[in-house]
Amino acid sequence: MCGIVGYTGSQKAAPILLEGLKKLEYRGYDSAGIAVLNNKVIEVNKVTGRIANLCERTADGKNCPGTVGIGHTRWATHGAPTDTNAHPHMSNDGKFAVVHNGIIENYIALREELIQKGYRFESQTDTEVVVHLIEMYYNGDLKKAVIKTSARLQGSYALGVVCTDEPEKVYVAREASPLILGVGVGENYFASDVTALVSYTRNAIYMDDGEFAEITPDSITVFNPAGQPVEKKISRITWDVGSAEKGGYEHFMLKEIIEQPRAVKATIAPRIKDGEIILDETELTADYLTSINKIVITACGSAYYAGCAGKYAIEKLCRIPVQVELASELRYSDPLIDEHTLLIVLSQSGETADTIAAMKECKNRGATTLAVVNVVGSTIANTADFTLYTWAGPEIAVATTKGYSTQVSVLYLFALYAAKKMNRIDDKLYNDLLECLKTLPKKIQEAIDMNSAISTLAKKYHGVDSMFFIGRNTDYAVALEGALKMKEISYVHAESYAAGELKHGTIALVEEHQPVIALCCNEAIMEKTMSNIVEVKARGAEVLAVTFKDNHKIVSLADDVIFVPKIEMIFSAAVEIIPLQLLAYYVAKENGCDIDKPKNLAKSVTVE
Ligand code: M6R
Repeated sequence: MCGIVGYTGSQKAAPILLEGLKKLEYRGYDSAGIAVLNNKVIEVNKVTGRIANLCERTADGKNCPGTVGIGHTRWATHGAPTDTNAHPHMSNDGKFAVVHNGIIENYIALREELIQKGYRFESQTDTEVVVHLIEMYYNGDLKKAVIKTSARLQGSYALGVVCTDEPEKVYVAREASPLILGVGVGENYFASDVTALVSYTRNAIYMDDGEFAEITPDSITVFNPAGQPVEKKISRITWDVGSAEKGGYEHFMLKEIIEQPRAVKATIAPRIKDGEIILDETELTADYLTSINKIVITACGSAYYAGCAGKYAIEKLCRIPVQVELASELRYSDPLIDEHTLLIVLSQSGETADTIAAMKECKNRGATTLAVVNVVGSTIANTADFTLYTWAGPEIAVATTKGYSTQVSVLYLFALYAAKKMNRIDDKLYNDLLECLKTLPKKIQEAIDMNSAISTLAKKYHGVDSMFFIGRNTDYAVALEGALKMKEISYVHAESYAAGELKHGTIALVEEHQPVIALCCNEAIMEKTMSNIVEVKARGAEVLAVTFKDNHKIVSLADDVIFVPKIEMIFSAAVEIIPLQLLAYYVAKENGCDIDKPKNLAKSVTVE
C-alpha cells in the first residue's frame, strides 16, 4: 500500500525523502515521487517502478536543492501505475504539492465540481481533487485551506502538503490512515510508518483521526478538526534501526522466520511473573470474563488463521464458545454481538481497513474489544478498549511470519489467563501448561534448527502447479496458514482442507504426483489423519508429512517427513508452522519469486 514521508529542516530534503521511501518499499508500490521546495518553487520528480529509478533520476537526491519536501510510494487504486498518476500532485498554479495515502470516496463528485469551476486535472487519481480543493480554498492562509478541504473529503487520508508561500512549513492531516510525526532538533519529519523515521529520530507523535498539523523545522503544532491546538504526547520508538534492515540475510522473510524465538520470548516472558500470567494492560477481571457468553475473534489473512489456531486453546481451556470471523465478512453480517461479547482483534499492522471497520461495528453493538497488535500507536491499538502488543519488532516482509507466531502466542497466554480467572482450570494443569508455554521460544528455535535442510526438500516440491495442505483440529488451523504462505510468495496454487473433508469432494482432484502436505502433530486424532494419508497415497499423491520428533509411525506412510519438537497439542501451531514457512520460502526461491514483495500484495491493506 502507499507510503508517505516528509521533512523540513536545514539539511537537503531529497536524500532524506528517498531514504525514507526506501524504508517503506516493503509495503508494496508501483511508482514513487518526491516534491522539494526550493526558492519558492516546487520541483517534482516521479517515476513508475522502483525507487532506484527515482534515485537515478535525481542522483540520489543530490540534484534537488531545497530543505523542505514530501515523498510518496504509490500502490495503484484509481488509475494505472503511470508517471502522471504517481504522487505528488500539483495545483494548477504550481503553488501546492500534495501526497496522499488512502481513498477519497467522494472524489468523482468533487472532481466534477472542480472541473466546472475551471480546474484542470492531469491524472486519473482520487488524490488530485485534494490539491485543487486546497488551491480553491486558499486565500493566503494554508491552515484554513486545509481545514476547509478536509471537511469536504469522505474516505480515508493521510496527507502531506507543501506551499510555495509558506516555504518552511509542511502541513499534514489524518483520517483513518496512519500518520506519525517524527520530532527532531531543528528539523522535523512525518511518515506513514515508523520504519521511515527510526534512522532519524526516536521521538514520535501519533496523530489521531480528524487531526492536522503544521510542521516547521522548530515546531510541531497539532490541531483538532475545528483548528484548535491539541496537546500531544511524545512517544519513544523502541524499534532499533537494525531490526528494520536485513542484517546479512538474503530476504527479510528469512530473517523474520529466524527471529521468531526472540519475538515470541519478548511477547510472552514479560507477562509471566512468579508463576502467574499478568495481563496488566487489560482489565479482564474474573467478574468480567464470567459475564460474557462468547468470544469473537476477527482479523484478515494470516491474522485470521492465527485466530483459528487460538480458538482451539481458548475453547479447550475456558470452555466458552469462540467464533473466528473474517473481518471483511463480519462487518457486513449484521453480527450477533452485544455487551456479553468479548471481541479479540488481531492485526500485525494495526491498520488493516477491514479489521478496523469490523471492530468499530462490534464496538457500536456493545462488545468489549481486546486488540492484539504489533505496531504501537496504530489505529487498532488506539481504538480498542485494551491492547496487548506482540513485541515482534518491525515486520518488513509482506508475508507475515513472526507477526503470526506472536499473535498465536498471545492467544495462548490469554487462554490460560482467562481459564484461571474463570475458574475453569485446576492449579496443577495451569502450572503444567504455563511451564510448557515458557518453553515455546526454545521449541520454535529447535523447529528452525531441525529444518535447516528444508531447502533440499524444496527442490523436490517446487515447480508444481498446486499443493494440498491437510490436517485435523489444531493441525488444520496450521494447514490454513501453511497454504497461504505457499501461495502468496511462491505463486503455487495451494489449498488447505480439514483432512476429513477430502472424501466429500476434493479427493477427486488427487492424481498421480499431486503434492499433499499432511500435518500430523495432534496425537489425539493422528490415526484419523494417517488414514487420510493412505487414501491420497492410494491415488498416487506425493505426501510430505509434518509430525513431532520420534513419531516413526508416519515414516512408512509418507514420501517425506519433516520433524518438529513435541509440545502440548494446544500450543503446537506456533511450532508446527515453522517448517511450512521455511518450505514456502525455499519453494519461492526455487521458483525465482520476489519473496519480500510478492506481486499484487501489500504489507498493510489500508483500503477495503
Ligand atoms: O496487518 P494485519 O495483521 O492486519 O494484516 C492482515 C493480512 O493482510 C496479512 O496477514 C496478510 O494475509 C499477510 N500477507 C499474510 O502473510
